[in-house]
Amino acid sequence: MQREIDEYITAHTSPEPGYLKELYRHTWLHRLYPQMCSGHVQGRILKMLTAMVNPRYVLELGTFTGYSALCIAEALQPGAEIHTIEIDDESADSLIELFKNSPGGEKITLHVGDALEIIPELNYCWDMVYIDANKRHYCEYLDEILPRLKTGGFIIADNTLWGGKITEGARDAQSVGIARFNDLVANHPQLEVVILPLRDGLTLLRKTD
Ligand SMILES: C[S@@+](CC[C@H](N)C(=O)[O-])C[C@H]1O[C@@H](n2cnc3c(N)ncnc32)[C@H](O)[C@@H]1O
Repeated sequence: MQREIDEYITAHTSPEPGYLKELYRHTWLHRLYPQMCSGHVQGRILKMLTAMVNPRYVLELGTFTGYSALCIAEALQPGAEIHTIEIDDESADSLIELFKNSPGGEKITLHVGDALEIIPELNYCWDMVYIDANKRHYCEYLDEILPRLKTGGFIIADNTLWGGKITEGARDAQSVGIARFNDLVANHPQLEVVILPLRDGLTLLRKTD
C-alpha cells in the first residue's frame, strides 16, 4: 500500500529535471549509502519550500553528492546564494565540477570541513538553513545556527523520524541525537515547529524572535 502511494505521489509531482535524474543514477551506481541522496520527490519539496521562503542566503549542512543543493539553487532568485558544507574532502573536486556544469550551480559555494567548525566562520545572516549532516549533532547544529538565523527565518531538518526508530525508542547514537533534537525544538521559546511525515520525517522550524 505504501509503495503504491509513493508511486502515485511520484507520478503526480513535477518531473525531475534530466541532470538531477542522472546525478541520482550516478549516486546509486558509484557511492556508498546512496539512499542519503534526496531524490525526485524530496528534491521537488526542497525546491518548492525554497520558492516559498524566497531566501537571499541559504545554508546547507551535508552536501553528499550535491542533489539537494542543486534543488534549492533551482528556486533561488538572481543574486541569492546557497552555501553548503561537506565533511568528506574526497568529494570536493567532483562537487566543484558538478556545480560548475549544472543549472544554478553558480549560486552554490561549497565549504569542505566539519559543519560545527565552519558555521561560525561564515559571516552571514541566514534566511533558510537545511540540516542534513550528522544525525548525532543536530542539537549542536541548532545551537550554532540559531544566533545566525534572521528572525522569521526557516530551518528545514531532514530525517527527524529516522525510519520510525524515534518512536520505537531506539538507543543508537543517531536515533538518540535526533530524539534529543525533536525534544529540544518542541518547546523551544524561539521556534515554531511542525514535523511533516514525509519520507524519513522533515521538520519545518521558524524563528519567532
Ligand atoms: C544525508 S547526507 C546529505 C544528503 C544531501 N543533503 C542530499 O539531500 O542529497 C549527509 C552528508 O553529511 C555529511 N556530514 C556528516 N557529518 C558532517 C559534518 N560534521 N559536517 C559536514 N558534513 C557532514 C556526510 O559526509 C554526508 O555526505
